[in-house]
Amino acid sequence: MNAVLSGLGLVKKYGSATALGGIDVEVARRESVAIMGPSGSGKSTLLHALAGIIRPDSGQVLLGGERIDQWSENRLSELRRRRFGFVFQAGQLLPELPAEENAALPLMLEGTPRRHAVARARRWFAPLGLDGLEQRRPGQLSGGQAQRVAIARALVSEPDVVFADEPTGALDQATSEEVIAVLTQVTREQGASLVMVTHDPDVAARCDRVLHVRDGRIGEPTQPAPGRR
Ligand SMILES: Nc1ncnc2c1ncn2[C@@H]1O[C@H](COP(=O)(O)OP(=O)(O)OP(=O)(O)O)[C@@H](O)[C@H]1O
Ligand SMILES: [Mg+2]
Repeated sequence: MNAVLSGLGLVKKYGSATALGGIDVEVARRESVAIMGPSGSGKSTLLHALAGIIRPDSGQVLLGGERIDQWSENRLSELRRRRFGFVFQAGQLLPELPAEENAALPLMLEGTPRRHAVARARRWFAPLGLDGLEQRRPGQLSGGQAQRVAIARALVSEPDVVFADEPTGALDQATSEEVIAVLTQVTREQGASLVMVTHDPDVAARCDRVLHVRDGRIGEPTQPAPGRR
């Protein structure tokens, strides 16, 4: 496999609790991988370790062959801003900013002038089904629309990898399916890989591959059910 991102032998302990018990995972370019498993099994910890948010106690995290687990905090935070995109469950938009500025935020934080950043962010609105909502504040958006703005924000810096932790956890089933359809499609078109934690088997089935985590370990990868892609 031509892996863009991999974790090798990842171990993470919190006191006597083992969140990751030696996990190997590889993510190919443009591949979407769902991470499923019971609550407390280590899904978020795995995502955070791969994204350079937490450092594993042992093991390696490789991005394009480089050992990012050894990088400094400063270098990691720059990496997360420039090459990774993030979508979390909810509540990640700034309530006082219009949708287009929320989506443009990662570029503005990098020093891109507001006008240019907003222009780049706006390009994502049509593909994400957000046409006409550019000026709305988050409080004036539905839950599904707000999550699509969060997806625009995750994609605006044209990342290599998008990480999503239960991105539809706060949405109803129909809205959740719409959001995931657009997330997987737009991420693939952008040429990015997607690593997504979800409890929802229908959401997971939209991904190329499903990893099952249990007690900090990976079970047998299973294929999505036929006809779901
Ligand atoms: N910062 C932390 N400090 C202490 N323990 C932690 C910390 N983060 C996670 N843990 C523990 O590590 C284990 C794995 O947690 P993790 O958040 O990865 O689970 P999860 O699979 O994402 O669960 P959920 O589906 O509920 O989000 C749990 O036992 C949790 O209590
Ligand atoms: Mg979690």
